[in-house]
Amino acid sequence: MFDSQPKVIDESRQGEAIALDSSPDSGKKLYIESYGCQMNFSDSEIVASILTGAGYSTTRDEQEAEVVLINTCSIRDNAEQRVRNRLHHFHARKRRQPGLVVGILGCMAERLKSTLLEEEKIVDLVVGPDAYRDLPNLIGEVESGQKAVNVLLSREETYADISPVRLDQNGVTGFISIMRGCDNMCSFCVVPFTRGRERSRNPETIVHEAKYMFDQGYREVTLLGQNVDSYRWNITKKNEVIDPEQPTVNFAQLLEKVALAVPEMRIRFSTSHPKDMTDDVLETMAKYHNICKYIHLPVQSGSTSVLKRMNRGYSREWYLNRIAAIRRIMPDCAISTDIIAGFCGETDAEHADTISLMRNVAYDFAYMFKYSERPRTLAERKFEDDVPEEVKQRRLEEIIELQMENGKASNERAVGKTFEVLVEGPSKKSDAEWCGRNSQNAMVVFPKGDFEKGSYIHVEINACTAATLKGEVVPS
Ligand code: SAH
Ligand code: SF4
Ligand code: F3S
Repeated sequence: MFDSQPKVIDESRQGEAIALDSSPDSGKKLYIESYGCQMNFSDSEIVASILTGAGYSTTRDEQEAEVVLINTCSIRDNAEQRVRNRLHHFHARKRRQPGLVVGILGCMAERLKSTLLEEEKIVDLVVGPDAYRDLPNLIGEVESGQKAVNVLLSREETYADISPVRLDQNGVTGFISIMRGCDNMCSFCVVPFTRGRERSRNPETIVHEAKYMFDQGYREVTLLGQNVDSYRWNITKKNEVIDPEQPTVNFAQLLEKVALAVPEMRIRFSTSHPKDMTDDVLETMAKYHNICKYIHLPVQSGSTSVLKRMNRGYSREWYLNRIAAIRRIMPDCAISTDIIAGFCGETDAEHADTISLMRNVAYDFAYMFKYSERPRTLAERKFEDDVPEEVKQRRLEEIIELQMENGKASNERAVGKTFEVLVEGPSKKSDAEWCGRNSQNAMVVFPKGDFEKGSYIHVEINACTAATLKGEVVPS
């Protein structure tokens, strides 16, 4: 899902309608549109599973929908603005189709709670990320003429027993959420407020889901969590074992379990946190061929003083030490990051530290953002959002320009090398070409041949653009 072209993005994916091809007359028609991070897309698959279980059928065509659900993101202000425009669009449609049910799910639902219902009156239904099991019941309430809200956050809910209805389109790559919520109070971030406390999912259900996906033809799974390195099962944060009769499982052990359970399936994960990423995880990655050699390690800033204000829990030196550990243990590992330009109080010298860190690490890929103040966060309460808009913009542009160079250099280094590629399907740009990713997560395009989607081939890279590698298939 990570695009390999450096660019500014507001969310990793935006407003995709996702649906199954279901038979035309089975049950009420549900349309789900998703915004935000991979966890939200994964949640939409859980929602689809709950509602198809209650007799609904999904559609990709919003025109034929009887229930419209928008799964939303609050991470930056412009993410919310985009969703508001969509809500107004659907609200207007209710004039033509009065029975239409319009609901808001996800992080914006959790953040704004009933205000969208009571003050703005643009939706019928507001459901937070831990309340999706209640959806059939809540939609029923709306249909009987009431407005419905459930934004209760839970300390336990992981939807562990729900097998998601896979809504993605290629049938080769998919996700499994391994944990929910976040306990890190990064001062800029709204996620702890919208997703609640961190909790990990039973490892047996994760392994079971991975095997099931493999049997369905999937060949790559991404294990998802806001901070996968703090995954823990049967052990508290203070290292107290909960049930001495049962084994404890940390993230490195979970990775190993999944790698062994589905040896022909690629495993990726997101997101790692620099303060928690252990050498154990890196060594497990190095040990198993099917764990992809790619780490997304968000740095946010290259300045220790900014990192401190961000409450990230690490310094520039600590971060660079983690990068050195990756390079030592897996010299062929690709590294990507997230960077925020213009956080509260950021000086020119602090910004220069971000630039120098980027030069030092030479990221293969980066997501780059302007700081956007979020209500209730520590930064909103403690600091002033005082970097002028034009300075934020200039700093962001400088960061993007450098990343363009780094990304290009990364692709150029791949030319002449041969990679194992998982065939995902036809390339978007040309019927004569197919595409897939290498272990390092770079998109590789190659001439169409007699390959099956989901098979592994070897491609020798002979050219590249800013976004993709191009090559010829060579014997495996
Ligand atoms: N859990 C992940 C991040 C999830 S949010 C982690 O800790 O890395 C994805 C990215 O959005 C963050 O890494 C950060 O770069 C960006 N982001 C979060 N809050 C933001 C804000 N208020 N303004 C701008 N960017 C923000
Ligand atoms: Fe937000 Fe920090 Fe948690 Fe990531 S680790 S979701 S940035 S609070
Ligand atoms: Fe957005 Fe919520 Fe994900 S705020 S980034 S959808 S956890």
